Amino acid sequence: MNERFSAVLLEQTDGKTRASIATIGIDDLPEGDVLVAVDWSTLNYKDGLAITGAAKVVRSFPFVPGIDFAGRVVRSSSSEFAEGDEVLLTGFGVGEHHWGGLSRYARVKSEWLVKVPGGMNGRQAMAIGTAGFTAMLSVMALEDQGVTPDKGEILVTGAAGGVGSVSIPLLAKRGFQVVASTGRASLADYLTALGASRIVDRGEFAAKGKAPLDSAHWAGAIDTVGGETLANLLKSMQYLGVVAACGLAGGSGLPATVFPFILRGVRLIGIDSVYCPMEVRKRAWRRLAEDLDYGLLDSMVSEIALEDVPDRAADFLEGSVRGRLVVRVAG
Ligand SMILES: NC(=O)c1ccc[n+]([C@@H]2O[C@H](COP(=O)([O-])OP(=O)(O)OC[C@H]3O[C@@H](n4cnc5c(N)ncnc54)[C@H](OP(=O)(O)O)[C@@H]3O)[C@@H](O)[C@H]2O)c1
Repeated sequence: MNERFSAVLLEQTDGKTRASIATIGIDDLPEGDVLVAVDWSTLNYKDGLAITGAAKVVRSFPFVPGIDFAGRVVRSSSSEFAEGDEVLLTGFGVGEHHWGGLSRYARVKSEWLVKVPGGMNGRQAMAIGTAGFTAMLSVMALEDQGVTPDKGEILVTGAAGGVGSVSIPLLAKRGFQVVASTGRASLADYLTALGASRIVDRGEFAAKGKAPLDSAHWAGAIDTVGGETLANLLKSMQYLGVVAACGLAGGSGLPATVFPFILRGVRLIGIDSVYCPMEVRKRAWRRLAEDLDYGLLDSMVSEIALEDVPDRAADFLEGSVRGRLVVRVAG
């Protein structure tokens, strides 16, 4: 098999990352026991950082980015996967240390792959992608910590982004009252249609405040923003409230005190999608297949071609992506 195909290629000169569409061959791909023909990939926040070079996500060049993909197995020396299997991959350093999914073919380790759940197609799997998978892990973390719909409202920050958009219908489906925090008031109808019961301006959580605690309100929260937003959120959690912290779209700092933890028993749960264990991964994908309304999922998606990727990656740095960006890799 000596096929030549298109891939996004990152190169670096004088410390500056440049992305282009290149033609490469199977022999250029890194080692792995499974070769996948990629049909769909996506752009996530981390891809935005990698492709623009805004953060040191990728350290060796030339490099094919793309932290997730869905496609069909075309060659496998693993007993777990056979030719024709529909598979998906998120994380495990793919698109960071190992060439990724923004390429017609990807060669990866079988232990990183998940079979696409029954009833879901590859495009839907990537409409979910790393962002939606992280949303599911965050919802599961709240539930695992005992947060139930009767306890009160759940706040989702960065609501109009990828993780936020998928979190809303997942929570609403399980009966939670979801409050969407956004900086884009113009997207209120979009967020309400996804299942938010009300919208709050993200400015409410952005200000520096001196008080160690605010009035106790939220039963749970999924935070994609970090920084002052996360610190303010911790202050306004109910007694035994739970925050699933998964992002840093607003900053990686945490200018907080211990008071929410020691006076209100607030629990701060970290969410990592990259090295999440395989049994949790499979449980999350099963839950996504059961709980997510594919009509709502479709309403979050903008589809772009592989050729559009170099230009669209910077949208994440501006916080201007609504929902999910799915990349059509095949044809
Ligand atoms: N832990 C993990 O494994 C994991 C996995 C996936 C993603 N993440 C992280 O989760 C975060 C969200 O990822 P994503 O793919 O959903 O990105 P995204 O689509 O760009 O969404 C981020 C959202 O955050 C809000 N935002 C952006 N800049 C902000 C700022 N300066 N202050 C306050 N809010 C701001 C915006 O929402 P509004 O316009 O609605 O305000 C934006 O849409 C990223 O930090 C990403 O790295 C982590």
